[in-house]
Amino acid sequence: MTLIQLVTSQTQKMKASPIREFLRYSQQPDILSLAGGLPDERYMPPYPTLDSVEASQQYGSSEGEILLRQQISDIATERGVLGSVNQVLVTNGSQQALDLISRTVLNDESIILTEQPTYLAAIQAFELQGAQIKEVPSDAFGMDINALRDALDVHKPKAVYLIPNFQNPAGHCYSDQRRKDIAALLDEKDVLLIEDDPYRDLCYDNVDLTPICSYLKSAPWAYMGSFSKVLWPGLRVGYVVASEELIPYLVKIKQVTDLHTNRLAQCIISKYLASGKYPQHIEILQDTYRKKRDVMAQTMATYLTDIVDYSVPAGGMFFWLRLPKNVSSNRVCREALAQKVLVLPGGAFFANPSESDDAYLRLSFSRVSEDDLRHAVRILAGVIKKMMDYE
Ligand SMILES: Cc1ncc(COP(=O)(O)O)c(C=O)c1O
Repeated sequence: MTLIQLVTSQTQKMKASPIREFLRYSQQPDILSLAGGLPDERYMPPYPTLDSVEASQQYGSSEGEILLRQQISDIATERGVLGSVNQVLVTNGSQQALDLISRTVLNDESIILTEQPTYLAAIQAFELQGAQIKEVPSDAFGMDINALRDALDVHKPKAVYLIPNFQNPAGHCYSDQRRKDIAALLDEKDVLLIEDDPYRDLCYDNVDLTPICSYLKSAPWAYMGSFSKVLWPGLRVGYVVASEELIPYLVKIKQVTDLHTNRLAQCIISKYLASGKYPQHIEILQDTYRKKRDVMAQTMATYLTDIVDYSVPAGGMFFWLRLPKNVSSNRVCREALAQKVLVLPGGAFFANPSESDDAYLRLSFSRVSEDDLRHAVRILAGVIKKMMDYE
């Protein structure tokens, strides 16, 4: 048997993540990277000292450490997500929650609806199950409600996957009305909502952040959160809070996958949350990233107004740019890289690729300094203008 016969057809079909390929370059010290969605390590607090690390030496429970689950349940309740502590599952990053949900509900006969564009690693998790992804267009207020209704009627999907707050990659934030309309529609059609919310605490303007699942009356739901973007992504601690009928299945799949999330990592997060320092830390992050966002917006306005289409995100880590006609994002990325600036082409964020996807770039402003942001945008603007001249 050849190796290719050994590997399942879904695994064979999986595309390598171009983001991972690009992130290789971001390790080089002379490269200025706006590519990854990475937090700025200069603003990561030190780990708290644990009173007793021995407590985490033994196997633990698949659902997660009880104290952390209670803390997550409190956070979720404060946001409006109605779930008891029994509905909380601690996961190895929210990426694992995506994988567990996918394995629980999707197979090669399933269809799932996503935003267009959407988070690349979610596309990969859904496709690994063999599911078909149908993209639904969005406007400035979130997923288009008429397009969603049509897609629900035509495709009869198992689930709808949404990132309502400061979306990766497009940066959009849903309006309050759109959140309510989507919830009402999903209740009407009885379709599972998978709501992914890792960026919500990185909020810089006054916008509504009410979880869509909090408006649901009867449809099943899974709400995911993460400590990666606000504390330490290396610890890999995230969570899913899910409706009562769904959570036991997620726990079963979690058991098969890795028994439980690393106990030491859970205890570190839990101790930090209990210290009372978290709210002030979030304020510092918001102030810091807001300034970076503003520097990026000002520099873009100076060098790229009337050349690229973009809007200023109210939170999160990303600007999403549409390039002028006939300027290829892949070529821009290669040329910018030659000038030591790394940005990501947008094509990988589309589940159903088409030629027009080569018009987008994702720029992350979270990790680099304000001066470096100015420099990177100036370089990028030069590259784009040069390519326009050649067309
Ligand atoms: C939308 C979205 N969901 C989930 C994740 C996964 O985050 P983590 O596994 O670090 O919690 C990310 C990471 O970039 C993301 O952007």
